[in-house]
Amino acid sequence: MSMQERLAQLEKYREKIKQGGGKKRIEKQHESGKLTARERIEAFLDPGSFTEIGVFVGESNFDKLENPGEGVVVGHGTVDGRLVYVYAQDFTVSGGSLSKAHADKICKVMDLALKNGAPCIGMNDSGGARIQQGVDALEGYGNIFYRNTISSGVVPQLSAILGPCAGGAVYSPALTDFIFMVDGISRMFITGPQVIKAVTGEDVSPEELGGALTHNQKSGVAHFMAESELECFEQMRTLLSYLPSNNMEEPPMADPVGPEGEPEEIMTIVPDNPNQGYDIREVLVRIVDAGSFFEVQPLFAPNGITAFARLNGRPVGILANQPRVLAGCLDIDVSDKLARFVRFCNAFNIPLLTFEDVPGFLPGTNQEYGGIIRHGAKMLYAYSEASVPKITIILRKAYGGAYLAMCAKPLGADMVFAWPTAEIAVMGPDGAANIIYRKEIEAAEDPIAKRKEMADRYRDEVSNPFIACARGYVEDILDPRETRSRLIAALDALATKRESRPRKKNGNIPV
Ligand code: HXC
Repeated sequence: MSMQERLAQLEKYREKIKQGGGKKRIEKQHESGKLTARERIEAFLDPGSFTEIGVFVGESNFDKLENPGEGVVVGHGTVDGRLVYVYAQDFTVSGGSLSKAHADKICKVMDLALKNGAPCIGMNDSGGARIQQGVDALEGYGNIFYRNTISSGVVPQLSAILGPCAGGAVYSPALTDFIFMVDGISRMFITGPQVIKAVTGEDVSPEELGGALTHNQKSGVAHFMAESELECFEQMRTLLSYLPSNNMEEPPMADPVGPEGEPEEIMTIVPDNPNQGYDIREVLVRIVDAGSFFEVQPLFAPNGITAFARLNGRPVGILANQPRVLAGCLDIDVSDKLARFVRFCNAFNIPLLTFEDVPGFLPGTNQEYGGIIRHGAKMLYAYSEASVPKITIILRKAYGGAYLAMCAKPLGADMVFAWPTAEIAVMGPDGAANIIYRKEIEAAEDPIAKRKEMADRYRDEVSNPFIACARGYVEDILDPRETRSRLIAALDALATKRESRPRKKNGNIPV
């Protein structure tokens, strides 16, 4: 064959593979409201930046393709000009099911992402292990899980769920840093509705069992929910804008912008009445760069907030209690949510800003039997372990174990600030008065008035922020209007922080 003929043949094979499962299956994919693997990659990456690799992997007869591309498209491209590796499972080919060659292609880009220090993005749309293959497919999954784990904390790993993900297909995303789901098309479950019906007798629809809302709100498996695939890709691009490409880099700086609203607005958000709730987001958006507040898991454990944002252009990880939900109490789910976010930020050199207004851990048998001790301990562990700059701002309540769990000074906070409204004590004034002034309250003519008097006395004498400040547990008490400028100054002063730890194989976080 001449060179021309060989090139024509190459082009023919390449074109054939690009057709995936063929016209009919592509139409079916579109009819079900989904893009194809290649369309997804094009929509996600910078235009024209995608280079595919491993196009011919797995084929033995190029004239009669059985599984074009082995059901997955892999390669590299850029997002905002920065290198990323990407794979997208092709549902039009055997339902995106995972064969050994399919897994090998994914492993190839995972290896390259790790060696080159670039994020790895997975677009999942798969019926799980290729049933015809048996053990080979299982080996393939194992190879991916292993790489997910080795890459964890070295390069960011993002997973978009863009169709069904059943059986083994859910565990690779679960090992990555963030899971994105699209309402109406994403589904994740270990066993589907039919198996559940057969084994437990429960009736549940696929959507209810493993849809985007279920995993964003109930299970906490997913972190972001979008209305469409395009919105999902936008969310992934936004997330990447806060992250370094690997754990050896600093997060990328952006142009600084001022905060939302007028400076005075921050003065009236936290109610004078300590028993009244408010939306902590109203405070946060008035401190960070306008438009930079990007919440993670907004629907799960809404009594706590995790978000990326920027201060004067510098990416930060924000953790906050949300007094509007459960008064901001710490419970099992929020402990998991916050602890995992702390560990992600620490792995990728993102400073932690903790905003505290917490009355304590949520009481109850549900919580105790569910292991709040084990889950709450994750926060203590994650904050203590983190060596990135850690800054804590106490807005109002900071009681008991929860005071410590929200990154108090003994857990290694580099700087702690309080607002004048801060109340720092072993417990809330009402509970404290009931215990330490019990006799006085019982003996009083009007016990309710007496309890209030004693609670107010406790608040004034014991839980005011000046005591913590005088002991050096708090650096300074801030006028709320200067919070932003003081945080920027603190971040600048901590930008070169280095803190070493004893060498160990791994710590033993109470998982
Ligand atoms: C081979 C598969 C497949 C699979 C789907 N297909 N899943 N082929 N292996 N696992 C094929 C179908 O035969 C069909 O081929 C095409 O993909 C599209 O599938 P449909 O069923 O027509 O699509 P849909 O109605 O949208 O349903 C999608 C689905 C369903 C929900 C994913 O196909 C399904 O339930 N598949 C099986 C899921 C499963 O049990 N997987 C194994 C999990 S065990 P044609 O030729 O008709 O287009 C596992 C173990 C790993 O993963 C454990 C590791 C830890």
